[in-house]
Amino acid sequence: MSLGLTLPKAELHLHIEGTMEPELVFSLARRNGVALPFETVDDLRRRYVFDDLQSFLDLYYLAMAVLRTAQDFTDLTDAYLAKAREQGVRHAEIFFDPQAHVSRGVPLSEVVSGLTESLRNSKERFGISTRLIACFLRDKGPQEALETWETLQPHLEQIDGIGLDSAEVGHPPQLFKPVFTRARDAGLHVVAHAGEEGPADYVWQAIDVLGVERVDHGIRSVEDGALLKRLADDRTPLTVCPLSNVRLRCVPELSQHPLPRLLDAGVLVTINSDDPSYFGGYVGENFVALQEALDDSVLRQFAADSFRASFLPEEERAALI
Ligand code: HPA
Ligand code: ZN
Repeated sequence: MSLGLTLPKAELHLHIEGTMEPELVFSLARRNGVALPFETVDDLRRRYVFDDLQSFLDLYYLAMAVLRTAQDFTDLTDAYLAKAREQGVRHAEIFFDPQAHVSRGVPLSEVVSGLTESLRNSKERFGISTRLIACFLRDKGPQEALETWETLQPHLEQIDGIGLDSAEVGHPPQLFKPVFTRARDAGLHVVAHAGEEGPADYVWQAIDVLGVERVDHGIRSVEDGALLKRLADDRTPLTVCPLSNVRLRCVPELSQHPLPRLLDAGVLVTINSDDPSYFGGYVGENFVALQEALDDSVLRQFAADSFRASFLPEEERAALI
């Protein structure tokens, strides 16, 4: 089997809702009596052609309508972990979008208990240690993020960090300083999507104003030499998602991806899948896609750095590298 699939690795940028394969969308729709605006699995799959981030998000939020019960979230997470195990994943830090479910009338307790039912024994069942990160939907604004933070309080035992995702342009990180400050004060890890479609300035805001420990995507950092130097000096990891960037047309094609320029600047880069059901590949396929252009030693570096960039304690990281 190819090196990209077998290398032991951590996945650090993965939206659990974006792992829902069309077959599971249909089976959950049937189980929950949810009507879908697609006739068949193939019909749905044919819609997986995107012009930009928003065109993807429209379908992503639509398909989520089938997720109603704790069992649905457990089944979704079990399916991801089974797939990830086949691709060498040994540790996964998993995003979910509380507001996208609560706004549809699904109680947060159903979502969190369903996810944690699967994650609780992930190491024993799948050989994968896990962390859970709750993301705020930036296009719902900073006030709703604060309200969501309050509703997360009873669940903080199960939540390791917070993130920031959804439509980026026009929703700069600095607006979310109050909620990020509270989360940091509560001892949670903090990450944010920045520099996917948005400018390099959003990456500056994520590190300087929000104090993030990792930047999700961050690819537009290549437009700012001083930023590259800062990221490299601080060893702030970027969780890069190559197939996602091509599918969402943030990058015209893989051969033009800024990844080599990030590496040349000395930035710590990890490789991830983002929303694998929608973007044509899990983390292993992202590694495989890069394999032609990069030496095996670089792939090994990505895999080792994925553990270094994780929120695992030092001893556990060292044991995995
Ligand atoms: N960007 C922003 N928000 C998201 C993404 C993404 O790639 N995937 C799921 N929510
Ligand atoms: Zn993402």
